[in-house]
Amino acid sequence: MMPWFRERFGNPSSDHFFGREAKEQLEFSRAEVATLIGAKADEIVLTGSASEANNLAILGTTQELGRSNPSLVISAVEHPSVLQPSLRRKEEGWGSASSPGRFLRSCRPSGG
Ligand SMILES: Cc1ncc(COP(=O)(O)O)c(C=O)c1O
Repeated sequence: MMPWFRERFGNPSSDHFFGREAKEQLEFSRAEVATLIGAKADEIVLTGSASEANNLAILGTTQELGRSNPSLVISAVEHPSVLQPSLRRKEEGWGSASSPGRFLRSCRPSGG
């Protein structure tokens, strides 16, 4: 991927030569990552930052699981990109309870 970070700045969503070239490399890389972890290429979601990935993972997973999953546990020393979406879920009805260990915080769906 290094050439695409240094000298080939094509936007993979753009339909011109540089974009198509970047898109081809992006899909190749996506397939490689999928192979490494035994997933399908369309299961690999690439984000622009760790913050975006954390938000997507927490909000997306909790939305998918809904209230069927009993708890969401995070450390009290999380990065804001983990803490903020977790607090949002708490505001939406996920209650909170303390859990063992001084650095753990537990949010449980209230009434679920
Ligand atoms: C655990 C953790 N998550 C997210 C981030 C934010 O990363 P980004 O700047 O890629 O959004 C950091 C940055 O230090 C981090 O340490």
